[in-house]
Formats: sequence, C-alpha cells, structure tokens
Amino acid sequence: MTELTRADCVAFDQDDQLASLRERFALPDGIIYLDGNSLGVLPRATGARLENLIREEWGQSLITGWNKHGWVNLPLHLGARIARLIGADTDEVVVCDSTSLNVFKVLSAAIALRPERRIILSDSGNFPTDLYMAQGLAQLLGRDHRLEIVAPEEVSNRIRDDIAAVMLTEVDYRSGRRHDMAAISAKAKAAGALTIWDLAHSAGAMPVDLNGCGVDFAVGCGYKYLNGGPGAPAFLFVAKRWLDATQQPLYGWFGHMTPFAFETGYRPKTGIERFLVGTPPVLSLAALGCGLDTFDGVDMRQVREKSLALGDLMIRLVEQECPDFGLALASPSNGAGRGSQVSYAHPSGYAVMQALIAHGVIGDFRAPDLMRFGFTPLYVRYQDIWDAVAILRQVLTNEEWRNPAYSRRAAVT
Ligand SMILES: Cc1ncc(COP(=O)(O)O)c(C=O)c1O
Repeated sequence: MTELTRADCVAFDQDDQLASLRERFALPDGIIYLDGNSLGVLPRATGARLENLIREEWGQSLITGWNKHGWVNLPLHLGARIARLIGADTDEVVVCDSTSLNVFKVLSAAIALRPERRIILSDSGNFPTDLYMAQGLAQLLGRDHRLEIVAPEEVSNRIRDDIAAVMLTEVDYRSGRRHDMAAISAKAKAAGALTIWDLAHSAGAMPVDLNGCGVDFAVGCGYKYLNGGPGAPAFLFVAKRWLDATQQPLYGWFGHMTPFAFETGYRPKTGIERFLVGTPPVLSLAALGCGLDTFDGVDMRQVREKSLALGDLMIRLVEQECPDFGLALASPSNGAGRGSQVSYAHPSGYAVMQALIAHGVIGDFRAPDLMRFGFTPLYVRYQDIWDAVAILRQVLTNEEWRNPAYSRRAAVT
C-alpha cells in the first residue's frame, strides 16, 4: 500500500461534503479533539441561547416561562428531534434524567411484561452502569431475577425462551465493537424476549433504525455525539406497541395524568410521558437543543461514511507511522463491525494519553490499558488524524510518556 502524506489528508478534507459543519462548533485553537465519544464539543450557538434563556426567559418571565416559553414541552419536543436520528417515531422518544435512570425505568417496564421469566441477558462489553442498574433492580424486585453476563460473541447463542430481556450497548465503550442490532433483536423477538439497546455510542454517530430492527426499548446519552454539554439529559425510547401497555416504577408527578391536579394517588399519563419523573432541567434541555441543532440538514449516512473513513485512516496511519511501539489495535479493523472510535492497547496507555493531551491531542483512557480515539464527523478533519498520529509518534519515539507527571491519575480518566 502506498504511504499516505499530510497533503493527502488535506485533499480528503477538500473533498469532504460535511466539512462546513465544523463551523457550527466552538473548537479551541490548537486542540485536536478525539473525545466526542465522551463529551461533545460546545456548539457555537449554545452560549447565546443559554444567556438569552437566563436573562430574558427566566429573568423576565420567571414562573410564567413554563407556559410562555414552552419549557414544559422540552422533554417531548427534544425527544421528537432525537427520534429522527434513531429510526423512531416522534411520539416514541422522550428526553429526561440520566442514561442510568432510564435503563432502570425501561428495564423495569420490560421485566413487568414478561412476568414468568427471570433472566436479564447482557454482555461483558456493556457499560457498567447498565449492569449495576440491572443488579439493583433484580435485588429490589426480590423475585429471583438475575443478570446473566456472557461474552459479547456469545449473546446470540444464549438467547432462549427463559430470557425476559436482552440488554446491550450497541457499540462497546472500550473497543468500539458493534453488535448486529437487527440480528440480535430478531432472535430475541423469536424467543419472546424483549430488547433494550443503549445507544450512548450510536446516537449522532451513525444511522440507527430502532423500528426497522423491531427494538422494544432503548436509552442514550445527550452529552456525547449529541453535543448537549457535560451531564446533558439522556433520552429513552419505547416502541409504540408497548406505550400504553407498560409502566415504570418511578411514580413522579411529571408522569402523572394530571400533575397540577395534585391528586394523592398515582395515575400514569398515556404515551411516552409516563416515563417522565420530576421537573425537567430547563437550562440543560436548552443546551441539548443547541446540540441537536448541529444535526440540522445532516444526512446520517454521510456521517457514518466519514466516521468509518476517519477510523480507517487512523488505523492505516498508526500502522504506517508507529509500527514499533507496542501499540495493539483493540478495535475491529473492519468498519462494519465498529462504531465511531478506534482504541489501542498499550502497557503505559494512561501515561501516553496524558502526554498526547499535553500536546493538545485529546482522547481518553479506559482501564486497564486502552487509549480511545473517537471520531465525530461533524467537526473532526482528516488532517486532524494525520496530526494526531504524528504527535503520537513523537510521544512514543521520544518516550515522553515516561515523565512521572503523566502517570498521576486524575479522578476522571
Ligand atoms: C454505554 C454507556 N451507557 C451509560 C453511560 C453513562 O450513563 P450516565 O449518563 O447515567 O452516567 C455511559 C457513559 O459513558 C456509556 O458509555
């Protein structure tokens, strides 16, 4: 294979039909940001929108803002906008709470629909909070429910008619390995099991077709590829066929049929709103709205195409530029089996990542030894990949990562 040069990467950028979307973001100078899979970049419009909301809407309208500015409708309104990105109908998605809490709610709903079954099936590639939520729920129910965790490649074989719910994250947060959502959902359906997909690393990174795959429930994150800001509210999806047939156990007043009647007894709302719990976080929802604006007019198939091209480029350039430094590709090399990130194992991965960050190349680290590089096609350029790999080569060649300052662990890695 011919060697690539930086000029080749600049040429790829010139041909990139998504290149102008980068203007929608306030990227700091001198930073190559490969961590949109952890926290998306600040959209340019967010600051002004929040300032207006604070000064004019909150400041001037005060409590009347809930009606006057439609704050109360934000969970449904934003849910409907996310629906387009994940292959759902507009009335099947709502924005609320955190991904963890939403896992708890939809898993409870799924289990209640399969009262004769006791097993929740998941895999060792799932994000720990999802597994913890399932363990906590099983304990709370006190009816011998149990979480069975198998290797990712064994999930399909394990699906049988004793499984109540198959709960998986589509794209593995560590390796970027991607499950076949259509095939697993079809197999679960044939076995009478319900499916719950965590789309934290899918929504906004690639096309998702929940209804096309016959998925029952899904959850996802607002702060990664959706650019909603640190701790942004999450979303949840419930397939229409279950909306009125199911309930979740967190009986909050925003899920009540008539919250402002202040009845003492709980009666759930109809539709997806019964999955709401408490007062919506308006400032955070407004910021998420600006994150969703960055997808206006964007074709998710083009996003996927560029995401895979960026990942393939990274893999090729690391092979070309850094062949001798003990980096081991920990992600699938074939694009179809991969999400929008590429991970490398290195015995001193944490220190290498800190050295990269010191040079302005921001990725992140997951124990025990994985360096993760995420590709957000809306703002990452092909030349960024070249520059990031050049700096990686420098850090490894000069063994800069041996500086003891780079081994000190921060609270968030
Ligand atoms: C797949 C997945 N699910 C859930 C979470 C986190 O959930 P929460 O937003 O509730 O902290 C993450 C965080 O990175 C994640 O990667």
